[in-house]
Amino acid sequence: MINQEDQFKKVISHAKEYGYVFPSSEIYEGLSAVYDYGQNGVELKNNIRAYWWKAMVQMHDNIVGIDAAIFMHPTTWKASGHVDAFNDPLIDNKDSKKRYRADVLIEDYCAKIESKIDKEVAKAAKRFGDAFNKEEFVTTNPRVVGYYQKIDEILKRMGKSLGANDLADVKALIEELQIADPLSGSRNWTDVKQFNLMFGTKLGASADSAMDLYLRPETAQGIFVNFLNVQKTGRMKIPFGIAQTGKAFRNEIVARQFIFRMREFEQMEMQFFIKPGTQKEWFKHWKDTRLKWHLSLGMGDENYRFHDHEKLAHYADAATDIEFKFPFGFKELEGIHSRTDFDLKQHEEFSGKKLQYFDHEENESYVPYVLETSIGLDRMFLAVLSNALVEEELENNTTRTVLKLPAVLAPTKAAILPLVKKDGLPEIAKKIVEDLKWDFNVVYDEKDAVGRRYRRQDANGTPFCITVDHDTLDDQTVTIRYRDTMEQKRVKIDELSQLIKAEVDEKVWLEKCSV
Ligand code: GAP
Repeated sequence: MINQEDQFKKVISHAKEYGYVFPSSEIYEGLSAVYDYGQNGVELKNNIRAYWWKAMVQMHDNIVGIDAAIFMHPTTWKASGHVDAFNDPLIDNKDSKKRYRADVLIEDYCAKIESKIDKEVAKAAKRFGDAFNKEEFVTTNPRVVGYYQKIDEILKRMGKSLGANDLADVKALIEELQIADPLSGSRNWTDVKQFNLMFGTKLGASADSAMDLYLRPETAQGIFVNFLNVQKTGRMKIPFGIAQTGKAFRNEIVARQFIFRMREFEQMEMQFFIKPGTQKEWFKHWKDTRLKWHLSLGMGDENYRFHDHEKLAHYADAATDIEFKFPFGFKELEGIHSRTDFDLKQHEEFSGKKLQYFDHEENESYVPYVLETSIGLDRMFLAVLSNALVEEELENNTTRTVLKLPAVLAPTKAAILPLVKKDGLPEIAKKIVEDLKWDFNVVYDEKDAVGRRYRRQDANGTPFCITVDHDTLDDQTVTIRYRDTMEQKRVKIDELSQLIKAEVDEKVWLEKCSV
């Protein structure tokens, strides 16, 4: 068994070695928390985006997409509250001169208590064997119950202090818990201060007339300011949604954990406009719907959980995260927020334009309420990649590295391999590539022995290898090898397209969540 830290290191080096993710501008030593996607990464990212877009936009008659600009009028961010309230609490260690997010230090402390719980559970499971009942154990064992209570108390107090902007109490909590700088071990902390996360830039040629702008910290505001444009031109009736995917930028204090927390990243967001008073039902609806989308990918039901927020963002009346079990523990993957009418009302006030909906059935105008689903594309990428990477012990005492990506998301769907580079086999293999590439991303590979080529495709995450051999010349059949089971079957060349489609088609996967 390899530990979580080693597993995470393996994910990062695998991502680089196989053309998924590179550090940005690496020849200049890279740029902190900025990454580039390589030839396989871009395909995986596009496939995740397409899977989301299909489920959220194309499968819903009442949801449409837009693509708003990254630059927005600066008043947008005053209205949205980001200029005044989009802050993280930071704290510096006076000895190491390192800067941390105060809330993350406290959360990491709680995560350590959680790992103690995991250890207790593992010990008890070993002791009791088949008779072990985890549910009963974690609710009755005094030590575990005590740990849970402690986590709860800490997080509640932190939520309360942050909510009230009582930064002195956040520092007091860090001191009471005796949290030390993870790098130096020092407990010599500065006061906690607020730090705005938006990146500023300038628009215009001359210094005098240049306008101060921000790079958008979320895509959502591009949807709010276009609410009436879309509603009117699309004759949309409430309830309806507007979705978009695109870049967002945050000057994260502590950007770390690879592509989990980046300074430039991509979001996939949907704002669902509803009648005021119906937000509770819609909150539940979108929680269920989004979880089903995640589960449809088959990455393990036990790897997801909801985390309801204690501390609500300035715009929300309810909020939950869908957390995923990353190699460094359960962390937020997607946020679902009931944003009330906060944003539209603010934009009405700051722009002086009405942003209301006339409800013909009720014969009245109102500012709609909004239910938001917001997922980081890069974070989803990390969830998929880290979950897929497996080292398997084989029967012949060798190991293989395999990327068990959900086939619908895999960058390359099939590799076509001539057994040898002669006797007309490459020509047949290339013809198969020509036929299949209209529908699937496929590659041709003739280098090295076929066993090595299989291993290479396993590590690349390619679900199928198709081998052309001498029998193909006689009967137009090929061997199809399945990545996950290594099972091999003989099939007719004519059947390949249908066979692959049955395994990689979005429809087949999305039907599991019946969107
Ligand atoms: N419009 C709401 C919003 O932006 P958020 O919880 O701040 O809410 C939504 O962000 C999602 O965006 C998160 O659940 C996460 O997946 C992703 N995200 C946020 N900050 C990120 C960062 N620095 N790097 C990568 N992904 C990030």
